[in-house]
Amino acid sequence: MGGFNNRIGPLNQLFRIDGQVVVITGATGLLGRKHAEVVAAYGGIPVLLDLNQANIDAFASELEEKYNVPATGMVVDITNETSIEENCALLIKKFGAISGLINNAANNPKVEDSDGKNFSRLENFPLDIWNQDIAVGLTGAFLCAKHYGNAIAENPAGGSIINISSDLGLIAPDQRLYMKEGLAADQQAVKPVTYSVVKTALLGLTRYLATYWADKNVRCNALCPGGIENGQDSAFLAELHSRIPMGRMANADEYQGVIIFMLSQASVYLNGAVIPVDGGRTAW
Ligand SMILES: NC(=O)c1ccc[n+]([C@@H]2O[C@H](COP(=O)([O-])OP(=O)(O)OC[C@H]3O[C@@H](n4cnc5c(N)ncnc54)[C@H](O)[C@@H]3O)[C@@H](O)[C@H]2O)c1
Repeated sequence: MGGFNNRIGPLNQLFRIDGQVVVITGATGLLGRKHAEVVAAYGGIPVLLDLNQANIDAFASELEEKYNVPATGMVVDITNETSIEENCALLIKKFGAISGLINNAANNPKVEDSDGKNFSRLENFPLDIWNQDIAVGLTGAFLCAKHYGNAIAENPAGGSIINISSDLGLIAPDQRLYMKEGLAADQQAVKPVTYSVVKTALLGLTRYLATYWADKNVRCNALCPGGIENGQDSAFLAELHSRIPMGRMANADEYQGVIIFMLSQASVYLNGAVIPVDGGRTAW
């Protein structure tokens, strides 16, 4: 007859994150906006980091108006440690504590054809693009974990770090999907190597962080989204759909439930987990 365990508070409040400051990188991109919106909808204070102040300000006002939370945002290039450090100090001064970090920003590598070669191909892939992709997707996540993560560890209540990986952090890209008829082999575009490398490396960062501050109640988990339908051509879509048990790509808002789960008390014992949300693609 133990009665109900009440350590996590009322069950109907399990997903609330009222007043909690959550830093989101790449917050004005396609998915970043969705992450920020669900944070605001559940009472959290989204801190929007991206590269364009006008876009950030417009989106922060939208969130503030719709959800009545003091959404805020700044230009922070996550490859610049000084900029992160200064921003982190500013947030602590303004809000007192940080509770969440969503490492979401990444280059979505699109490499243009030139001189009859396709530079997305491994044999042509330029070192400077490798370095840029690693700098944003991986080094940026490390630097944010170092500073915002440490601030979360200093928060007596702890908090949650989410790394946005990909289904391609779990499986290799199927390069046949990107092949175009009539193009020579050296002109066929491929999913760049950096995407696989960055997304897989984030799983290592997730496990490292999950154990590093566990005694300070900082949890870290990875979300591996499948691709989002966003105007791709119909031949590509038909091929990709045939590789997904649910037979479709995702809508951009279909990750919000897992994001708020991972941030809130609803996932209080979830730590070091790698969660594919991909319509079953990686189950096949
Ligand atoms: N869209 C998809 O289908 C999909 C699928 C699986 C995983 N993902 C992952 O989800 C995340 C978000 O993807 P998205 O589709 O929203 O991408 P997006 O390109 O729409 O958004 C990325 C955002 O990051 C910002 N950014 C880039 N470099 C930055 C830097 N140095 N500092 C700060 N911000 C920077 C960009 O300005 C942009 O707003 C990425 O990690 C992506 O790999 C996306």
